Amino acid sequence: MWKQAIEEALRIAEANIGKFGERFPHVSDGGTTYVLNDNTDWTDGFWSGILWLAYEYSNKDVFREAAARTVENFNHRLENKINLDHHDIGFLYSLSSKAQWIIEGDESAKALTIKAADVLLERWREKSQILQAWGAKDDPNNGGRIIIDCLMNLPLLYWAAETTGDNRYRELAEIHAHKSRRFLVRGDDSSYHTFYFDQETGDSLRGGTAQGFRDGSTWTRGQAWGIYGFALSYRYLQQPELLDTAKRLARYFLDRLPEDGVVYWDFDVPQNPESKRDSSASAIAAAGLLEIADLLPDSDPDQAVFRQAAADAVSALYKHYFTRGEGDAEGFLNHGSYSVRGGASPDDYTIWGDYYYLEALIRLERGIPGYWYERNR
Ligand code: GLY
Repeated sequence: MWKQAIEEALRIAEANIGKFGERFPHVSDGGTTYVLNDNTDWTDGFWSGILWLAYEYSNKDVFREAAARTVENFNHRLENKINLDHHDIGFLYSLSSKAQWIIEGDESAKALTIKAADVLLERWREKSQILQAWGAKDDPNNGGRIIIDCLMNLPLLYWAAETTGDNRYRELAEIHAHKSRRFLVRGDDSSYHTFYFDQETGDSLRGGTAQGFRDGSTWTRGQAWGIYGFALSYRYLQQPELLDTAKRLARYFLDRLPEDGVVYWDFDVPQNPESKRDSSASAIAAAGLLEIADLLPDSDPDQAVFRQAAADAVSALYKHYFTRGEGDAEGFLNHGSYSVRGGASPDDYTIWGDYYYLEALIRLERGIPGYWYERNR
């Protein structure tokens, strides 16, 4: 089934190359087409990542050429500092230039990725000892604020430390990972989406949400970012508490799956036929569960449990959420939500959901992971 699912997804991706041209997909807006941008959003690396995955899987030039063109575009974005003033630099450059470096050993792609890691380090705030999620330094609302999603951006820094030999990238990422573990993860293994620290004293202030149901709820996509993100920090740092946290977040997620195996947008919203799903949260969690399973020793019974849970999630997505390209659908997955509470694409395609769905499928079929770390790690 995985082979068929991958081939169907690649057919959609190949058709999209011509439709998107040099532009980048973000989310849909109620229809069957993606809203495109000129590489100005936080999500644009996911299209690059889909193209690199498609190329690695199929070896087709059409994917390689389109993927390489996106890297040129990401070079232009970095040189011109186009909307890089946020923490999502890891999503942008891990899946574009770092992917090209991993697949082809391209030196200019490596150099670009190191420059991107430097841009991410500009988010470091010495007083609060965090990587600030959004906004300018000293921003009255967002200064001193961290976000669980950022765990997926840390691998760019760990990679830069290994690649350059400069330990500062790793040291700051490590501090941030542990701060995230201490303050974003709650005692029952649920999570805050974001957390605020005092910008002057560094004191912890309070948890809060940006896209969740309410400040103390558990936004399913945030929990999924945490599952995968803590596992990736463990892969680089080998500190057992990080893997333990990833496993705990995963169990919380799996214990609350609805009947069809794909989560609602927040674990604390009432579940009724009108409640929105977030297929992207399930896709991210599936990819993260495969990462955890690979990190566990064969003797750990959780390895098989998590691998099976990932397969079940991908299978549920394929059976009930995959568009099959019907009606010229440009997305892979229906029923993703960008921001239900904010009314932004609450029931739509999301390019990150499509990316993680394909990453998980290809890992299940071929064992190829994404582009968060070098293949020999
Ligand atoms: N990283 C932003 C989001 O997941 O919507």
